[in-house]
Amino acid sequence: LREHEEFTKVKNIATIELGRYEIETWYFSPFPPEYNDCLKLYFCEFCLNFMKRKEQLQRHMRKCDLKHPPGDEIYRSGTLSMFEVDGKKNKVYGQNLCYLAKLFLDHKTLYYDVDLFLFYVLCECDDRGCHMVGYFSKLSVLWLMMQEKHSEESYNLACILTLPPYQRKGYGKFLIAFSYELSKKEGKVGTPERPLSDLGLLSYRGYWTRVLLDILKKHKGNISIKFVSDITIPLAAMHLFNQLLELSDMTAIKAEDILTTLQSLELIQYRKGQHVICADPKVLDRHLKAAGRGGLEVDVSKLIWTPYK
Ligand code: ACO
Ligand code: ZN
Repeated sequence: LREHEEFTKVKNIATIELGRYEIETWYFSPFPPEYNDCLKLYFCEFCLNFMKRKEQLQRHMRKCDLKHPPGDEIYRSGTLSMFEVDGKKNKVYGQNLCYLAKLFLDHKTLYYDVDLFLFYVLCECDDRGCHMVGYFSKLSVLWLMMQEKHSEESYNLACILTLPPYQRKGYGKFLIAFSYELSKKEGKVGTPERPLSDLGLLSYRGYWTRVLLDILKKHKGNISIKFVSDITIPLAAMHLFNQLLELSDMTAIKAEDILTTLQSLELIQYRKGQHVICADPKVLDRHLKAAGRGGLEVDVSKLIWTPYK
């Protein structure tokens, strides 16, 4: 029966209670079979354990001693904090987070081993504790190395979620920006795992557009040129190719993502036998306006984190 449900993706849990919110779910999530008969689940907002009845949650809350996600606080600015949770050290938390996230993620199969992932959990903190707003997950470097995929370019984000009560407030772009800040510290270029959901693509497109256009505007299109000698490229594309690499270096955004973003904005043009990036300030401003709000800024000076070696 369970396999059948997973296959047809019949939504099982209709609502959840989490902290002070009651949230309607979006999709099926593969909770253990004993929860199959529940329409509503009660989550402890700190350890993410889930229960069938309100009284169970109330009893749990009296003895649960967590007031924030288990793991290291690696960022704090104002009331916002980011916690890094290692799935290997906090298996149950990682699993609970995946069950919860799947309720809002359609296309992702979350049947991976949580051991392999790091979870970056964003919280709004007050005197009652740190309340989860959203998170993103990332395959751990150790695992990448075991797979010999330890390259200069890799996925810097597996799944991203902003809980529905917190959506459309800029937290998604904050999480995306944060994932690129980690990549910069690792000295790597990153890209999110595919496929992206519609909302995921919208958020990424918005983030990429804003970051790239801000740079183009500031540098008036004069992105310094890095000489690449070991790749044969048609002369007409050489300048563009170098510009893309330079932008990629500055932002940790993978060059392909930069190219598709600029192409979708029709900013790649062919002039005097060369492909170039258009940097007309009026055009850039028009696109920037259309790209929406900038989202919440990541204050890099508040990020205390060193890459895994
Ligand atoms: N309708 C239209 N545009 C939207 C919507 C919406 N409902 N939600 C987000 N956007 C677009 C807007 O352009 C928005 O910018 P704006 O508000 O300045 O116009 C931009 O996306 C990002 O908005 P944020 O407020 O920064 O993002 P949010 O906190 O809402 O989080 C996220 C975005 C994480 C994608 C959220 O919608 C979510 O959790 N969705 C469900 C899970 C999901 O689909 N995750 C991505 C899967 S792909 C992957 O994991 C690799
Ligand atoms: Zn708890």
